[in-house]
Amino acid sequence: MDSSKPAKAVRNAVESAAEKVADVLTPDLPGAPGSIPPTVDEPTTPREPLPPKKEQGAPRTGTPTGAETGAPPSAYGQQGAYLTTAQGARLRDTDHSLKAGPRGPVLLQDHHLREKITHFDHERIPERVVHARGTGAHGVFTGYGTAEGVTKAAFLAKGRETEVFVRFSTVLGSRGSADTVRDTRGFATKFYTDEGTFDLVANNIPVFFIQDAIKFPDVIHAGKPHPDREIPQAQSAHDTFWDFVSLHTEAQHHTMWNMSDRGVPRSYRMMEGFGVHTFRLVNAAGETALAKFHWKPKLGVHSLTWEEAQLLGGVDPDFHRRDLYDAIEAGAFPEWELGIQVLPDTPEETFAGIDLLDPTKLVPEELAPVQPIGRLVLNRTPTNFFAEVEQVAFHPGHLPPGVDVTNDPLLQGRLFSYLDTQLTRLGGPNFAQIPVNRPHAPVNDMLRDGFHQHAVHAGVAPYRPNSLDGGNPFPAGDDENAFVDVPVTVAQAPKVRANPASFDDHFSQARLFWLSMSPVEKEHIVRAYTFELGKCYHQAIRERQLRCLANIDPELCAQVATGLGLPAPEPTVPLADVAPSPTLSQLGREWPADGRVLGIVVDPDADLDGVGEVRRAALGAGLVPLLIAPHGGVVGDLPVQRTFATARSVEFDALLLAGAPAPAPDALPTRDAKAGAADSTTVDPRVLLLVEEAWRHAKAVGAWGGGVTVLERAGVTGTPGVVSAESGGDAFAAVRQLLSAHRVWERFPASVR
Ligand code: HEM
Repeated sequence: MDSSKPAKAVRNAVESAAEKVADVLTPDLPGAPGSIPPTVDEPTTPREPLPPKKEQGAPRTGTPTGAETGAPPSAYGQQGAYLTTAQGARLRDTDHSLKAGPRGPVLLQDHHLREKITHFDHERIPERVVHARGTGAHGVFTGYGTAEGVTKAAFLAKGRETEVFVRFSTVLGSRGSADTVRDTRGFATKFYTDEGTFDLVANNIPVFFIQDAIKFPDVIHAGKPHPDREIPQAQSAHDTFWDFVSLHTEAQHHTMWNMSDRGVPRSYRMMEGFGVHTFRLVNAAGETALAKFHWKPKLGVHSLTWEEAQLLGGVDPDFHRRDLYDAIEAGAFPEWELGIQVLPDTPEETFAGIDLLDPTKLVPEELAPVQPIGRLVLNRTPTNFFAEVEQVAFHPGHLPPGVDVTNDPLLQGRLFSYLDTQLTRLGGPNFAQIPVNRPHAPVNDMLRDGFHQHAVHAGVAPYRPNSLDGGNPFPAGDDENAFVDVPVTVAQAPKVRANPASFDDHFSQARLFWLSMSPVEKEHIVRAYTFELGKCYHQAIRERQLRCLANIDPELCAQVATGLGLPAPEPTVPLADVAPSPTLSQLGREWPADGRVLGIVVDPDADLDGVGEVRRAALGAGLVPLLIAPHGGVVGDLPVQRTFATARSVEFDALLLAGAPAPAPDALPTRDAKAGAADSTTVDPRVLLLVEEAWRHAKAVGAWGGGVTVLERAGVTGTPGVVSAESGGDAFAAVRQLLSAHRVWERFPASVR
């Protein structure tokens, strides 16, 4: 091997491309900060603030009371070319405090210093008590008109477009925690409807840990880090969580979903969303129906492998955030259909024996199909994360006419909790006036004053009845589209702290979920329980959770018990006789591959024309191709996005290999922590590691030309989902086809059936 060859190639490429490299590297790829490339030297000529990036959106510029101003979104941003105080006075220096001489003490009169530091000192607000880690985007919802028979909500009318803001989140972690932890995900949507704001505050799991909101502090205290050491962060793999869910067995169904692949989504774009509770819909004739809301992602439901999730926690803790924003910037707009399961509004509030007020139960789609009622497209990233994503405030009680709540005791408690917490989190009662929270419908309330009042209310009579303001505001009549609380009959009953007897079934639907999984999904569930319980300190807690698993399924219990080195207990209740619900499985269909990330390994000796064609084809197909090369800059004329030193398999959905790069100078196995791959003397060890990891994570891998040699060196040639092709075009076509199934699970026959 000529060891000087790669070093020379690096030098040549860097030298010839030095100027070019600065701004042409990723003209068509997402992720560049700022709307124009920066200059090397500090700009000194005054100019207006730069426009936002093309994919950035902002709240509509309405007044605090809902009137559209017609101003551009930039009206909310900073104005003018010069640095000013918060009062607009121009400043000539912000780098030096006002002092008594260059070496003297700082003077108290320095208003600019005090204003700057004081504001900085107060930049933080309390993070959300749950769902603190999140990401948000703007979009549009279009109604299909198919829900008109069951709800009069106007935003669902055929073709009606409504602006939305969506915030995705994890539940347990703090604001700076990793995106890819095992957890439930929040999926909260704010529809700015003409009839008032509708918040669908949903999760990616259709059931919840508890049946009554009074238990919410308990389940969250159990899931959060231990109060003495404040560890572990953003995880359920610890004693207090398993202590609670094994004692409080109504949590077992939700826990099973968390232990499944649903707990580690590949992307927010690839998650379902569920309103969880049963809602009550009312149509124009006043007829009611019960309903459950579902979001169905266009790209299908897909997950990370557990090892990918763990690696990403270190390699890219912002993985989901980046994925969402890069996809929007690349034009692969995330898309969902909103659907409803419509259920008859009977006095019992049950369906097929399922208590519809019990939020630990779902209604299988085989029994009540999800009917599509509209489409959501996310097409704008925030302009300012704090102003929009951090300050957005959702509330399950924000409902339009035509949608009402039921007596689900979890929902009832939520109706209190969100407003209450936001009073503290957003510093007073006027947070509905923050731009991202402003309704797009006219607001005429009689709420007045308070911290951060932005409205300038006119009139003298914020009370009713009044004559001094001409009687305004007036209650809306029956035909004037008021929100009407559905006059549901409440049965005469004693005042009790108790649940209906039907809430006592804690295992049948956990079993239903387990039985609905494919073998590989079952294997993942077994491994997740084994991992999480294996991280618990106390054996009593493991044993207690095994008892719960025995009541769900003996095979599941036995497999986990084996991993823990404990005997499998016998069930203590009869196993439920339930039919599987195939729609709960994530596998077995084909989906579009839009926005998937394709890593392409190149070196200067590779078929660069072929790589160029593959890159164009991938962009044309809505994929994000990232070139991985021995060095940064360009290879041939092709811009490089990752080097062997910066790439890790977990950021790619599939790999293509166009070359067989010899070890680069920075890849001496003895010095490179990533080394360790088999044949690292002739192929760069980090490329072999990329292939080995991608293979282990059941990803599609394709190669042509020199790349075929890498497959051989890695020992994966001829295995399922590994393609050796004649040309780049053929390799790309084969990998794209494999991507439509998300992963190549045939590579690993599952041990659990
Ligand atoms: C079906 C059950 C539940 C679902 C689907 C759910 C969903 C969510 C979501 C998606 C968020 C994040 C909102 C955002 O992105 O800003 C959230 C936040 C929150 N949830 Fe829930 N939640 C549930 C149950 C509860 C219960 C029972 C309580 C309390 C009794 C509760 C209290 C809170 C609080 C206090 C926040 C933080 C809100 C804020 O600071 O703005 N949640 N929930």
